[in-house]
Amino acid sequence: MTATAQKTLLVSTDLHKTYRTGGEILEILQGVDLKVKQGEWLAILGASGSGKSTLLHLLGGLDRPSKGNVQYNNQDIYKLSRKAINQYRNRDVGFVFQFYHLLPELTALENVTIAGMISGSTLSATDRKKRAEMLLDQLGMSHRLKHRPNKLSGGERQRVAIARALLNEPDLLLADEPTGNLDADTGQQILDLFIELHKQGQTIVMVTHDQKVADLADRQVLLERGVLKK
Ligand SMILES: Nc1ncnc2c1ncn2[C@@H]1O[C@H](COP(=O)(O)OP(=O)(O)OP(=O)(O)O)[C@@H](O)[C@H]1O
Ligand SMILES: [Mg+2]
Repeated sequence: MTATAQKTLLVSTDLHKTYRTGGEILEILQGVDLKVKQGEWLAILGASGSGKSTLLHLLGGLDRPSKGNVQYNNQDIYKLSRKAINQYRNRDVGFVFQFYHLLPELTALENVTIAGMISGSTLSATDRKKRAEMLLDQLGMSHRLKHRPNKLSGGERQRVAIARALLNEPDLLLADEPTGNLDADTGQQILDLFIELHKQGQTIVMVTHDQKVADLADRQVLLERGVLKK
């Protein structure tokens, strides 16, 4: 392993998330300590409702912790300026949401290229489109470029969401159940892509409740009762 491969990219320290709803206090994360090295593929396992999505959102700068912090490249992301945290979300991180969050009025292709527009990427519009088409093609979606999300199956939406996450070549890929809604063949296609990306040095943090999928990662942790277990 090279020196860069061992650099710590992402750290969470004593991460807490508490929700208050209708007078009830839900302590979902209760001190999550996590370290991810550059180039590492980490799988987070856990029962439904254990807080996996909550944790991934916090790692991606999409929410605020109740306590504790998340450091990316030694910077506490929740102490960054609004502009800098936006840059972290849009440029450093590629996020695959559990429920896709595609924009309904845009086509599959536009849903992918928009990631480049938001991030202020230096790619020209033509190159953005080329890269989006290449990614969608790699994901077996080249016949659906002009479809809007409501005309796509769940698995097809998931693939568009994955292409969008990869458009800006993020240093850190955060994926929430990326194969959760796919049949075995399509799921394998996505996993092959993840394996290939990982070979090329992509850092991946992936939430899954499929043990077989988790077994592909370098390391797995289990989220249970608000903390991580090895
Ligand atoms: N905004 C919110 N307000 C109140 N409770 C919430 C909120 N978001 C999540 N929760 C609760 O926090 C818990 C963890 O939710 P989360 O979505 O992180 O679970 P998960 O592990 O990703 O589950 P799944 O495997 O089903 O996707 C759940 O019990 C959920 O109801
Ligand atoms: Mg979830």
